[in-house]
Amino acid sequence: MLLHIPEVLTKMQVAQLRGALDAGVWLDGAKTSGPLAAEAKHNLQFSTESLDYPALSQSIIAALEKNALFVSAALPQRLLPPMFNRYADGNTYGNHVDNAIQMDRRNNERLRTDISVTVFLSEPEDYAGGELIIEDTYGSHEVKLPAGDAIIYPSSSLHRVEPVTAGERVASFLWVQSLVRDAWQRSMLFNLDMNLIRLRSQVGNTDEIVALTGHYHNLLRQWSS
Ligand code: NI
Repeated sequence: MLLHIPEVLTKMQVAQLRGALDAGVWLDGAKTSGPLAAEAKHNLQFSTESLDYPALSQSIIAALEKNALFVSAALPQRLLPPMFNRYADGNTYGNHVDNAIQMDRRNNERLRTDISVTVFLSEPEDYAGGELIIEDTYGSHEVKLPAGDAIIYPSSSLHRVEPVTAGERVASFLWVQSLVRDAWQRSMLFNLDMNLIRLRSQVGNTDEIVALTGHYHNLLRQWSS
């Protein structure tokens, strides 16, 4: 399931992040990925050694964790620290699938990547190209969102970033290990949760809605790890 999550960050938060990021140190993105992905990856990545990095990264996590749509869709168990990338001057990231296992460098623990997240930090009109193209069973999807919005998609999907031919595209990206590993189960739970919320706002907490909410939680209990 691909899901657009609007306004994860306010425009003010985006401006503050961009101020710090634009003044910071950027490194060759290819040095930060496995050898297969590195061949396809031509961009810059904000230095994770930078003094600013932990707070910048944490501000993305805080914004996601208080976003109800993100929490319902991703059912996050653990989040890897968000990183930041920049594409300009024809930078691109060819077709690839993200590594299934990523190391959390803060504690040397391994995390399974179930969901990939991109939070856009440039306005679409500020650059040409740079679309995130995600292939799934329903075909190919082109994503280019307002600054502050996010897209989440299964990490198992083949995806790429088209060359940025003018301006620059800055984004944050991260991976989530979900409580529910299976994407189809996650998508059913999300659909049930969203419809329960709508029904509750239409007719209040009837006995039937309370019972169905119980089923939601019992399914989550069955499927979560
Ligand atoms: Ni990727």
